[in-house]
Amino acid sequence: MKIIIGSDHGGYHLKLEIIEHLKGRGFEVVDVGSDSDESTDYPIYAKKLTDAIAGDITANNVDYETLGILVCGTGIGMSMAANKVEGIRAALCHDTFSAEATREHNNANVLCMGARVIGPGLALKVVDTFIDTPFSKDERHVRRISMYS
Ligand code: RB5
Repeated sequence: MKIIIGSDHGGYHLKLEIIEHLKGRGFEVVDVGSDSDESTDYPIYAKKLTDAIAGDITANNVDYETLGILVCGTGIGMSMAANKVEGIRAALCHDTFSAEATREHNNANVLCMGARVIGPGLALKVVDTFIDTPFSKDERHVRRISMYS
């Protein structure tokens, strides 16, 4: 599985910790920026990441081979921007219950977090839970997702 990750300045340092953790787990990680903690605009990186994921879905005709992680100060702006892109279901999660539920029920393909909200220890557990939880594929969840996708 490939994981694409992006941040603004507010999420930059947590993003680096997540990248190190994921590479340590053997994942292919693609960082779309930003490249420092200098002030920037989070929608730039949300768009880069969601375009890359939507492109992978189109190219491979397979959904959810690629997952995304977006980190800003709160995670809120990133989730709002990401959810504007067709094919993207971005979920703002700061706990493992939500991260598990949104993969099982919503088949979320982007995890959003706020580095000013969550510490690195819990953030890495949320990331692992999100990545390791498969979509349930239950008919009711497929039906509900199709009602807004
Ligand atoms: C940047 O100050 C902050 O607004 C941004 O990181 C994010 O929290 C927006 O939702």
